[in-house]
Amino acid sequence: MSWSTIFFICMALVLSTQTADGYKYYRSARCVYSDDLHDMEFIDSYVFNKVEYIRFNSTVGLYVGLTEHGIYNADLWNKGPIVAQEKTQLEGYCKHNAANEYSNILDKHVKPSVPRLSSGTPSSGRHPAMLMCSAYDYYPKQIRVTWIRDGQEVTSDVTSTEELVDGDWYYQIHSQLEYMPKSGEKISCMVEHASLDKPIVEHWDPSLPESEKSKIAIGASGLVLGLVLSLAGLIYYQRKKSNGRTLVPSG
Ligand SMILES: *[C@@H]1O[C@H](CO)[C@@H](O)[C@H](O)[C@H]1NC(C)=O
Repeated sequence: MSWSTIFFICMALVLSTQTADGYKYYRSARCVYSDDLHDMEFIDSYVFNKVEYIRFNSTVGLYVGLTEHGIYNADLWNKGPIVAQEKTQLEGYCKHNAANEYSNILDKHVKPSVPRLSSGTPSSGRHPAMLMCSAYDYYPKQIRVTWIRDGQEVTSDVTSTEELVDGDWYYQIHSQLEYMPKSGEKISCMVEHASLDKPIVEHWDPSLPESEKSKIAIGASGLVLGLVLSLAGLIYYQRKKSNGRTLVPSG
């Protein structure tokens, strides 16, 4: 047997023991809060090989068994001193951390960015026109997006998404209004959010956007230039023709 064969066998043994199933035992403590942090629950779970078999639940104030073994343990632990210690965690751990988290994250406000309103094709086909109003990258989640037409809030034919989670603490929301255009009307979208001293109001401007205006201006200048040049050409041609006539004696 050569050394390399022995080495290979040893490696195979090491690898097989490393990949063989072992045992995993862990305990996880968590605080579950309501949105306003007023309701909270402390849960202390014990998990063996992916099976949670016992947990302390602060709402019940006791250990709760989830398997036969867990129920057996819960009976014992609920009689012992350990349960008293768990009972202090709701105040000492969950409530204490809630105050920290509140001042670090939850009382922060980030203003939504509201781009100018855009028009689109109505999806339902009940009305010929559709406007879209969006708010991006704001925090916290609560927001109000409303449509105002000639000073009145519009509630019918408005479709809004929920507050969509961006996955980075920020949210976005989109609202669309389907309507029958009238001349001289004023349509606006109003966004209210805790980060704003006064609501953001975007007015619908049915005239063309700046980029379109400049395209038209460039096109029109081209047309004028073209006309001027062809006119100059025509005059030049006419002049030359009449000059030719005087140069060549007639008769
Ligand atoms: C804790 O107990 C309460 C009351 O029985 C129950 O509503 C809640 O779902 C339990 N929580 C967990 C995580 O088991």
